Amino acid sequence: MDIDAIKQGLLQRVNESESPREILKAPEFRDMYSKITSLPKEERGAFGRQVNEVKQAVEQAIEARESELESVAQAPIDVTAPFDVNTGRPLLLPTDQGSTHPLMQEIETVSGIFNRMGFVVEESREIDDQFHMFESLNFPKGHPARDDYDTFMTIQKDKDGEPFIAPAHTSTMQNRVLQKYAANLEVGEPIAAVVPDRVFRNEDLDARHEHTFYQVEGVYVNKGVNVGNLVATLQRFLEEYYGRKLNVRVNPFYFPFTEPSFEFALECPFCEDGCSVCSDSKWIELLGCGMIHPNVLKAANIDPAVYTGFAFGCGIDRLVMMKYGIEDVRHFESGKLSFLRQF
Ligand code: PHE
Repeated sequence: MDIDAIKQGLLQRVNESESPREILKAPEFRDMYSKITSLPKEERGAFGRQVNEVKQAVEQAIEARESELESVAQAPIDVTAPFDVNTGRPLLLPTDQGSTHPLMQEIETVSGIFNRMGFVVEESREIDDQFHMFESLNFPKGHPARDDYDTFMTIQKDKDGEPFIAPAHTSTMQNRVLQKYAANLEVGEPIAAVVPDRVFRNEDLDARHEHTFYQVEGVYVNKGVNVGNLVATLQRFLEEYYGRKLNVRVNPFYFPFTEPSFEFALECPFCEDGCSVCSDSKWIELLGCGMIHPNVLKAANIDPAVYTGFAFGCGIDRLVMMKYGIEDVRHFESGKLSFLRQF
């Protein structure tokens, strides 16, 4: 057995390895150890010391290699990044090589349109509680419609022993918005707010379904608000967003937090006689909406005998896919530069 050759071979492998500690398990060590026991007693001591030396040398090399790997991992990504001559700070992200994510860009557009129509813009949150996800929206405990909103929950529990929830829709913000702007009603002003933000569902992923996507919630309350106001508002928004006159179809639907409830479909902007985007139906389901349920108003201390209002929740990803002819929703969260650079 050529101990020296074995040692050199092991050291070389350590210096080239990404996980050098694994080399302590190399078969060479096993062979050397079994050789020790097979030797006559008087040779064992000397040979054992040689094997020990090899092991120590390899361990030292492993430590050196590990700290080398660590310093590579911590090194700045681009040491040649240009510096700002005035501030001396590195210009790590030249803006001409980056762009706003298409969804963020479109959220700005959507918010801008609603803003010009008199709606304020609010933010949602990424972890919420059962009260805002369900109770405040007229889903009592055990209500079967809760199953339509299958999403992610935390292991930690709140003070009532319930898990926190990654919101499955932006309607979690209805109660907060109603309470925050309730004082508007006393001075004869409407409550008018939109909430564009991220939502989550436990979905089987395909070209139309993502576990993470965006919705824009709308809430409007005043004296004498009716379904006509709801339809006109959404129609106006969609025409403004797509830049042309569109026909809309309003079908009855069910949500616990609106009564009556509707599903809003848009005439397919891609075709006249049916195409793959609208599955040959000429209509594309885009959003859920309805007149805010009296119990939802009551949960926010607003008197449903005096005030009425509408709410809607529109999937932003779908809206954007239809605007640009994007065929797969998964592109948005993919981080693919070939996709992102087109915007
Ligand atoms: N939150 C509903 C959904 O995501 C949509 C909706 C919002 C319906 C507001 C009515 C009123 O399915």
